[in-house]
Formats: sequence, C-alpha cells, structure tokens
Amino acid sequence: MVEQRKRVTTGIHGFDGLIQGGFLPGRVYLVSGPPGSGKTTFGVQFLAHGGIKGEPGLYITLSEPAETIMDDMSNYSFNIFGLMKLEKLQFVDLGPTMAYNYLESGQNIITTDYQAQIELSSEPEPPTPASVFKEIHKYVTKYKAKRLVIDSLSSIRFTAEHPAAEEKSITHFIRNIKNLGCTTIILSEMTNPHSYTVEQFVSNGVIFLHNFLDEESNTMKRAIQVIKMRGTKHDCDMRRIEFGDAGLSVLNKM
Ligand SMILES: Nc1ncnc2c1ncn2[C@@H]1O[C@H](COP(=O)(O)OP(=O)(O)O)[C@@H](O)[C@H]1O
Ligand SMILES: [Mg+2]
Repeated sequence: MVEQRKRVTTGIHGFDGLIQGGFLPGRVYLVSGPPGSGKTTFGVQFLAHGGIKGEPGLYITLSEPAETIMDDMSNYSFNIFGLMKLEKLQFVDLGPTMAYNYLESGQNIITTDYQAQIELSSEPEPPTPASVFKEIHKYVTKYKAKRLVIDSLSSIRFTAEHPAAEEKSITHFIRNIKNLGCTTIILSEMTNPHSYTVEQFVSNGVIFLHNFLDEESNTMKRAIQVIKMRGTKHDCDMRRIEFGDAGLSVLNKM
C-alpha cells in the first residue's frame, strides 16, 4: 500500500482536485502563460491561501514594482494587507534598481542618431541569477517562508555566450531554489507552448495558463492546463477559468 503523501493545497478553486489534492511540499512548479493570463493572480492566491493557514508566503517581484502588484491584487478579496500586517505575506521587489526617471529627463531630446536613441531609451539591466538567488535566500530565511513565488523567470538575466550555457544557468538557478525547502511557484512568460524549454524539464510540475482569441466566437478564451506533475496522477485537459472577487476558479473542460 502506497503511503498517501501530504499535499499543499493551492487555494485555486477547482484546481487541487485535478492534481490529487495539491502540490508536493518543497517542490518547484512552473506556471507559464502570456500576459494577462492570470499568473500573478495564481501566485498571490496560492500565498494568501497559505497565509490564512498560518504558512508565511513570500512574493518576489522582478517584473513590476511591488506597489503595483499589491495595488492590483488588493482588488480581489484575498485580504493581502491584513495578511501582511500578520507577517503571513510579504512582497519583495528585486527588479532593476536603477532610476526610472530617464524618460522624463530625456523626453525633450530629439535625435536622429539611432545609437543615441537606444542609449536614451535603454532599460536598466535585469539582475543576474546569482544576485537574485542570494536575495531570495536572505528573505526566505528572514520571513521563515513556507511558500514562495518568483515573478518571473523571464526577468532574470540568464544570458551567456552559448544557449547551452544559458540552459545550464537556468538549471542551476532552479536547483538552488529547490534546496530552499519552500513549495515554490516560478512564473514565466509563455513563448511557445509547443516547444519545451529547460525550465519545464527541471521543474517538478508545469501548468499553462492560456489566453487566446477564439476565432469562431471572436472572443478571448481563458483556460488552465496541467502539462506535467511529477509523482502525481493528474488531469491533462484544457479547462476554462474564471476570474472573480475571490480570484481564479477552474471550471469545466473546454
Ligand atoms: N478583481 C478582479 N476581478 C476580476 N478579474 C480580475 C481582477 N483583477 C484582475 N482581473 C483579471 O485577471 C487578469 C489576469 O491578471 P494577472 O494575474 O495580472 O495576469 P498575468 O500576471 O498573467 O499578466 C487580468 O487581465 C484581468 O482581466
Ligand atoms: Mg503578472
């Protein structure tokens, strides 16, 4: 008889039943999807659900300022500010630290020199995996986090001369994250759902959030799909999702 392993419930309505009751503790899951597909909602809902049960959660933002995420997420009934007061939920901004005011100061400079244009509009460099990991480790220890969300993998500078070196760097980063002992969701911008990327191989589970134009009805359709979930019997279908005041809910098959 196989011993039933304890599961980490996600708090996403209708989701845990698709994956034998929840995530496995201490594992790393990838939630991938295009902009506006619900990645941030999924992550914050997962942390808020843990927070209510007394498990401290940490949301690392690299893509948008923490204030913007908190502001957007306070529109749901997650009670994020209440959980923050109780120290059951923390948002930490690890995004590019350079000043963002270059646009205001550079706006009135009109130039036909292409290189000068690039220099004026160039974004600050995203942080390296080593610096991001060091900070995450610090905050996980400080807040005794049990649940961790990283938003997003796409905002870390994994650049290297060869694609193989870049893949090695991503693998190394995710392996280090696994060693932190938190049940972790890494968010990533979906580039191509049909080609597998190294982060999908390294993660213990992969979930896609779809947001696409249905040409028949000419409306946007949203769905969730479990692509892989190690050590778990799971549903493989694309299922409709809905956003309400209480967050994300998973509905019937598409
Ligand atoms: N309080 C809310 N009630 C209903 N829908 C919402 C609410 N807040 C956001 N949404 C919807 O959720 C979508 C997904 O947002 P988000 O989780 O930020 O996606 P992503 O992080 O993938 O870009 C938004 O495009 C919006 O349509
Ligand atoms: Mg987001």
